[in-house]
Amino acid sequence: MLNWIERRTGFVSMTKDLLTEDVPGGASYWYVFGSATLFAMIVQITTGIFLTFWYAPSAATAWESTRAIYLNPFEHWVLSIHYWGATAMIALVFLHLLQVAIFGAYKAPRELQWVVGVLLLLITLVLGLTGYLLPWDMNAYFASQVSLNITGTAPVAGPFIQDLAQGGGVMGTATINRFFGLHVWLMPALLVLLVGAHLTIFRHNGPAGPPTEDRRGLKVGRFWPDQLFMDTVVSFFVFLLILLLSFAAPPFLDQKADPTNGAFQPYPAWYFLSLFGLLNLFPPQLDTVATIYIPTLFLLLVLIVPWIDRSLSRSLGSRRGILWGVFIVVALIAGLSVQSQLHIMALQAAGPPSLSESQILAAQPATSSAPAAPVTGVSSSASAAAPGANGATVFSQNCSTCHGAQGQGMPGAFPPLANNPFVTGNPSQVITTVLNGRSGPLTVNGQKYDGTMPAWKSQLSAPDIAAVITYIRSSLGSNKASPVTTAQVSASK
Ligand code: HEC
Repeated sequence: MLNWIERRTGFVSMTKDLLTEDVPGGASYWYVFGSATLFAMIVQITTGIFLTFWYAPSAATAWESTRAIYLNPFEHWVLSIHYWGATAMIALVFLHLLQVAIFGAYKAPRELQWVVGVLLLLITLVLGLTGYLLPWDMNAYFASQVSLNITGTAPVAGPFIQDLAQGGGVMGTATINRFFGLHVWLMPALLVLLVGAHLTIFRHNGPAGPPTEDRRGLKVGRFWPDQLFMDTVVSFFVFLLILLLSFAAPPFLDQKADPTNGAFQPYPAWYFLSLFGLLNLFPPQLDTVATIYIPTLFLLLVLIVPWIDRSLSRSLGSRRGILWGVFIVVALIAGLSVQSQLHIMALQAAGPPSLSESQILAAQPATSSAPAAPVTGVSSSASAAAPGANGATVFSQNCSTCHGAQGQGMPGAFPPLANNPFVTGNPSQVITTVLNGRSGPLTVNGQKYDGTMPAWKSQLSAPDIAAVITYIRSSLGSNKASPVTTAQVSASK
């Protein structure tokens, strides 16, 4: 059977070729971090594909579909694995990098393998950053706003990149879609390509072996089965740990993003804590030193390590300088992370008490039937007696993120709908605005706005739109204007 396949494809000899490789100095548990990272990547891709089955990227559905995932035990478990898999993958990339740095395995002829490895670390961090936004809860929103604003302060291309990633002047559906595209397409594609390059270069040069001067007496081990066995054992334990944590400590879903809640204190993912700590060390006018210049310089320094430490010897004794450098950098990163974690805990303790997750999840009735559909008054208020839509529900689930829970708006960013003469004025203009969205300069009660209001005609049904317009015209602030009917909405374009 194998012969039959071999004769037609060459797969069997190819696999044998791939598995036969000498490991100088013998197989070792020191060399497992690279393959464990690869394993974590496979976990992430698998769980990530499942999550795209359930997640719906838009301002009106991101949080709602995430909530539906939380409410379904199996989907919640897959999400938990994805969450802890991300932590595992980032931790393992760091450990892998550290092991290579300590062993001096980046030295000639492996410089490019090191450079590709550092790029892989960067891509992993961007994956973490873009994934952080997707649940669209309070922290997702405000933490991503911080990173977008930081991007905007970078010299030359900063504002352009911010605008591109944000998809316009304010965060909304366009931002979610761009982060989603980066998170599920561009970054994973780059990741897989670069992992391919990384492994091809690895095969070309072979394993670097132990950090010793004298290579003559070294015994030679085999990749298959010795090293592969150790790699499998460690990947298995990594998987066990991810599973354990996914049950013991699933991620937390906060309330839906409310851009008007300026008091919210966002906190970064653990792997960005050190950058956050660095920011706290500098006075506000020097922020870009901490957020842009130091990280960029550090990254460049890491990239050129093989050209800084150029001696041919890899022995630890002859590389004291570089080893001290590595130690100091790791200590600084750890110290800054701890310091900023303490800082965040102090801020949270001082802030108002927050709702528990079960309160948040229970706040709206479950829409387990169609989590990916836009949240409409009809589907989410199953208990409402009226067959028509419930304007207040449609408003709180689709409009309040931007216009505020009471329609109070946010000065300079989102116009108020309460006490807004346009809203209580000619109903057909309000209908057209909600159906088709609008953008461009706008003045409400003397305050200027220039943002983008999304179009709702493909997101909400005509009865929902009629109900929400009736609601904003009659229930926000001192608005008292005539209701709008479904027929009027259906008749407008
Ligand atoms: C992503 C944020 C966002 C969401 C969600 C949103 N809006 Fe808006 N809305 C805006 C922005 C920004 C403007 C101002 C656009 C401009 O400057 O031209 C606006 C303008 C409006 C206006 C016109 C106000 C005026 O004075 O001209 C109405 C009416 C309105 N929105 C209603 C709604 C309704 C109803 C919903 C929910 C179905 C909603 N909006 C959801 C951001 C949003």
